[in-house]
Amino acid sequence: MRKKIVAGNWKMNKTLQEGVALAKELKEALAADAPNCDVVICTPFIHLASVAAEIEGSVIGLGAENCADKASGAYTGEVSAAMVESTGAKYVILGHSERRAYYHETPEILKEKINLALENNLKVIFCIGEVLEEREEGRQNDVVKAQLEGSLFDLTAEQYKNIILAYEPVWAIGTGKTATADQAEEMHAFIRSVIAEKFGNEAAEETSILYGGSCKPGNAKEIFAKANVDGGLIGGAALKVADFKGIIDAWK
Ligand code: PGA
Repeated sequence: MRKKIVAGNWKMNKTLQEGVALAKELKEALAADAPNCDVVICTPFIHLASVAAEIEGSVIGLGAENCADKASGAYTGEVSAAMVESTGAKYVILGHSERRAYYHETPEILKEKINLALENNLKVIFCIGEVLEEREEGRQNDVVKAQLEGSLFDLTAEQYKNIILAYEPVWAIGTGKTATADQAEEMHAFIRSVIAEKFGNEAAEETSILYGGSCKPGNAKEIFAKANVDGGLIGGAALKVADFKGIIDAWK
């Protein structure tokens, strides 16, 4: 059975001290009331080592929000997949729409990042999703399929096992406008069919596909109840333990 996952994406929020405090509060909340799913928090690079120490021995998994498309060397300001892994992190978000849009990350760049992440034993939370105009024109399936093909289709079956997918319609991210549970289910089923065509039915059935975009305690249960939705990638609501825990509890 594929894993149910609730992953937080802190984005560029929280100082180091605030981040460690948030991780501690989450650890304590989950120690008092164990989750029914895998829980991951993805933090800014500079938080990783400290948060790893804080959550050691807890149920929480740790991830980065990005990594470099080069292995090492003269790339001032970049952070490699090996560096991420050396902090104790086990996951990395790649292909987030904010990185595609603001930092011009192309499918080719993302391929390099994915390869390096996998070489360094990180699980990749790979984000895909259409912008509003593409949905209004009815092109969302083509867009998402091209994103999958462009960055994942050169992976071997063995490599692909370490990919988690996150469908995040860009028009729903941080806007308060969530996809309906039916819209999410329709797209997740389509994504699973694309994966089945390329990597086979078994790999498709084993793929966790998370929904992301204004997911909140109030709507998570309805969205997670859908057959092809295996959890959420949570932005804003991951910054408050009560909200994040509320979403985790949607699996209960
Ligand atoms: P949001 O962000 O939950 O704040 O909409 C989700 C994401 O971008 O991962």
